[in-house]
Amino acid sequence: MNKVTKAVIPAAGLGTRFLPATKALPKEMLPIIDTPNIHYIVKEAVEAGIKDILIIVSHAKEPIEDYFDVNYELETRLREAGKEKQAEEIREIANIANIFYVRQKEPKGLGNAISYARSFASGEPIAVLLGDDLIDDSERPAIGELMEAYEKTEGTILGCRKVPRERLKKYGVVKPTTKAEGKVFEVSDMIEKPKDPSLAPSDIAVLGRYVLPPEIFDVIDRTPKGVGGEIQLTDAIKLSLQLRKCYACLFTGQRYDIGDKFGYIKATIDFALRRDDLREDVLEYLRHLVD
Ligand code: G1P
Repeated sequence: MNKVTKAVIPAAGLGTRFLPATKALPKEMLPIIDTPNIHYIVKEAVEAGIKDILIIVSHAKEPIEDYFDVNYELETRLREAGKEKQAEEIREIANIANIFYVRQKEPKGLGNAISYARSFASGEPIAVLLGDDLIDDSERPAIGELMEAYEKTEGTILGCRKVPRERLKKYGVVKPTTKAEGKVFEVSDMIEKPKDPSLAPSDIAVLGRYVLPPEIFDVIDRTPKGVGGEIQLTDAIKLSLQLRKCYACLFTGQRYDIGDKFGYIKATIDFALRRDDLREDVLEYLRHLVD
């Protein structure tokens, strides 16, 4: 079976890069303008045709569950105030998809977090979307491009882009089998967060999107601890190369690293410039700043 119908969103991280805000708020709930960033991630999966989504949480992540739930009191008050449209919008968020939750018990890495999705996947491939990578889907959802590549190749698919060499140390970096040609190409090796650019096998980094085959869970179980003493997904995928081919898929949308403060600011500005209600004011303000 090569159809991808389920998505997994790991959201158990502490968000230390956004302290002090994340002392009391899950980083996934930080808004880009007026919408929590996890909403954009869920929307990307939904637009790719996915209806069942598992969010892997940890303690103190209840605001995520509340956000995707019905809020009767708020809806009632909005309706009483004649704000029918807003009430509808709030309700639609609760109906966006079938969202399931599971808690990662200890912060043991991305590979370990994904292992909590075993029952949810139930023998099927899964799409994985990481919340720190926000991809503009105005053309098409990035994860949909990866799902298509999986359906064609039945290989593990990594959502990738070229990254400046000096920034490769933040990512998993792939080694193309031959020349990296076209949009989808085979990968023969990968390395998690190379310490030095000279250790990176290419300048193509994995940027927060994956389609993983059903056997990934068994592979994660036998993956030893890697960088940071954590079970790394990159290491598990590397091990799985013995079982199945793996491909990089260069997705098309603009990607923002919103786990990084400057990336977050860039996303906020660009998203504002795309909105009819904000574009003119923001442009005028930016012009005023540079004048
Ligand atoms: C994770 C992965 C890494 C990947 C990155 C994408 O790292 O381990 O391979 O390149 O996400 O953003 P993290 O940013 O969680 O440290």
